[in-house]
Order: sequence, then structure tokens, then C-alpha cells
Amino acid sequence: MKEKEKKYGLNTLAIHAGYDKDKETGALALPIYQTSTFAFSSVEEGANRFAGVESGYIYSRLGNPTVAVFEEKVAALEKADAGLAFSSGMAAVSAVLLGLLRTGDHILCSKGLYGCTFGLLNLLKDRFGVEYSLCRMDGEASLLEALQPNTKVIYVETPINPTLELVDLSMISKMAKERGILTVVDNTFMSPYLQRPIELGCDIVLHSATKYIGGHGDVVAGVVVGPKDIMDNLRLTTQKDIGGILAPFDAYLLVRGLKTLGVRMDRHCSNAQEVAEYLSKHSKVNKVYYPGLPSFSQYDLATRQMEGYGGVISFELSGGFDAGVRMMNQVQLCKRAVSLGDVDTLIQHPASMTHSVIPIDERKAMGITEGLIRLSVGIEDVSDIIDDLEQALSKA
Ligand SMILES: Cc1ncc(COP(=O)(O)O)c(C=O)c1O
Repeated sequence: MKEKEKKYGLNTLAIHAGYDKDKETGALALPIYQTSTFAFSSVEEGANRFAGVESGYIYSRLGNPTVAVFEEKVAALEKADAGLAFSSGMAAVSAVLLGLLRTGDHILCSKGLYGCTFGLLNLLKDRFGVEYSLCRMDGEASLLEALQPNTKVIYVETPINPTLELVDLSMISKMAKERGILTVVDNTFMSPYLQRPIELGCDIVLHSATKYIGGHGDVVAGVVVGPKDIMDNLRLTTQKDIGGILAPFDAYLLVRGLKTLGVRMDRHCSNAQEVAEYLSKHSKVNKVYYPGLPSFSQYDLATRQMEGYGGVISFELSGGFDAGVRMMNQVQLCKRAVSLGDVDTLIQHPASMTHSVIPIDERKAMGITEGLIRLSVGIEDVSDIIDDLEQALSKA
């Protein structure tokens, strides 16, 4: 972050960090540098750029001015030194894990993980001999027991999808630091507006920028932020050589989306709070998982660690799988769709959709019951969202 930006609040940074105006034209909106390559004014200039003795662009897989603004903006919001942008959240996850781990290393992960991250861990284990284990991380004792002499990285999602269980980031980062282990946090569900793991002592933060960072459901992207030395290393290894880079137009959309991050997140949170309270009183709903409900088992941790409770709610229908299917088929305003973090309300039924290939017993062990519904509450008028849920629930 630039020195003058250090005094700014998060909403100001979301609008101004990383870009002032175009140096040549004064254009206030970020130009889209839709170019694959950059011409050198002399062979010496080209040679100096390749040698790293002169800054400047070479080729868009190695860096692009539109993408650089996005990277700088997210780094500023997450209070990190530097950032790297990727073509998807999974490209970001894989660049980080491949960049930090080698054969014989162990990575300790939170018990719930995004399915494709889990798939990547299995690929790393089977093909490259990187061990992993999962841990509930519900206290120092369970973490101590799970750590191994070859643990190099602790990898955490919090809140964990779909039960929204939380992991105490200050506790994890303190224990990791004492042992020289790096802590990586997938902050997708919160966005930097609601949770900043680096301020809590964690080292690296990544996002599926497809979600709240973009916010409008029109781009698939990922981003990683952290210490400059680690980001420089990833830029020259797993980003450059694997090549899952972000396109300039997508970076433009993300920068545009980020400008309204704060107002969107405030509305996602207030809408989700009202919807969660409505659902928790509904006769056809057994249980509601939302960190903002005082009945949520980790409400105190949520209040301490997060600056808002987020826009995702899960709830269990008492009528099980069939009720889930019936309700899902009745919604009108809420869109039957996976993903989360869009301005539109999205609703999905894990047992028939995202988690349907997982055997029922394994699903249960993950807390995914047959009637569980996940709702990513959008920023529409909350009364319209509740009316839609009411009419769909009446037929569930
Ligand atoms: C928590 C989390 N991490 C990572 C990803 C992967 O992101 P993408 O779909 O942008 O590759 C997702 C996608 O849903 C996610 O929910």
C-alpha cells in the first residue's frame, strides 16, 4: 500500500487504492490494457526489463497494468504487502499450494474445505507425495495433536461451508508462528470488508474473487495476497509457469465491483440477519446456521473475529430431502444456482446438487443433512426475499 493510503478507511481504499488516474489521458475510469505484449523502445530497455533492473511490462502473463491495479487494491484492503491475480479461485489455490509445498511436506487443513480444494489435496498426495490431514481446529489441544514435524502450512476456511463453523484465526496464527509454519486463509465467504486474517496474524489470504469481490456474478477469478517476498516468488514460479493469469477485462470488472464492496457487504449482512431471524421462527425449519444469531454456537468468536456476519445462511428443513426438492422448485425471485456473493439471492440444495455425488453417510458426517438448504442472500429488498421464501416454504 502507498504511504498516503495508510490513513484511509476500507471504503476509501476500495475506490482509490491502486489507481489515481491514467497518466497520459487523465481517464478516471481504469483503462483496459487489452494487450498480450508490450513494445520496447530499444533492445537495451528490453534487456533491462528481462534482467529485472528496470521496471516495466514485457508480456501480459508476466504482468499487465489493468490486472496490477486489481492486485494492488485487494492487497490494500487485506492489509497485505502485495497481491497476485488469477483466472479462478482454484487457480489461486493451486498456485499457492504448489508454490509453498514440496514432496514430503505436510499441510494441515480445517475440517471443512471447498470440494475442489479437497480434490487438489488428493492430487498432490497421490501424484506428488504431499501429505495432508484435516482437523476440527476447535482449540489449541486439537491443533497441537494434529501438527506434525513436517507441517509446513496450515490452511483454513472460515466460515466453513455449509455449516458456517468458524476457526479462531488468532489462535491458529499464534501457534503457527511459534513453529515457523505459514498460515493460509481462504477468505472467500467474508471478503476483506468483514474479515482481515493478516491483521489477526495469518500470512497469506486468498479468495475466489468470483464471489463477493466481483459481486455481480459476471466473472470467474481468484486473488492471493501476502508478504512481498512470498508473492514475488509465486509470481515468478507458479503464476508465470503454470499461467492461470487473470484477463485484463476481468480485472476491470473486479475493480469496478470492488468500488461498492462496503455498501454491498453492509446490505448482504443486514438482509441475511433478517432472513436468518425469519427462518429461525419458521415451523418447517429445524435449524438455522448463521453466525449472527445469538443462538449460533460460536456467536462470541464471530463477533470478535468478523466485522459482520456475512451473507450466507444454511438451514435444515424438517421434511428432509423431498421438502428440499419441493422448496427449491417453488422459488421464483431466489435463483436456483451454486456460487455465492452475487447481488442476486442464490439458493441451492447440497444433497441434490453440489454434494450429491458424496455418499449419504459421508455427507451426514460433514453436517450436510438431506433437507439442508444454502442461501446466499443478495441485496434485493429483504421483504421480497422473505416473501419468496415464505411462498416456497408453504409448499415444501
Ligand atoms: C471457499 C471457496 N474457495 C474457492 C473456491 C473456488 O473458486 P472458483 O470457483 O473461483 O475457482 C470456491 C468456489 O465456490 C469457494 O467457495
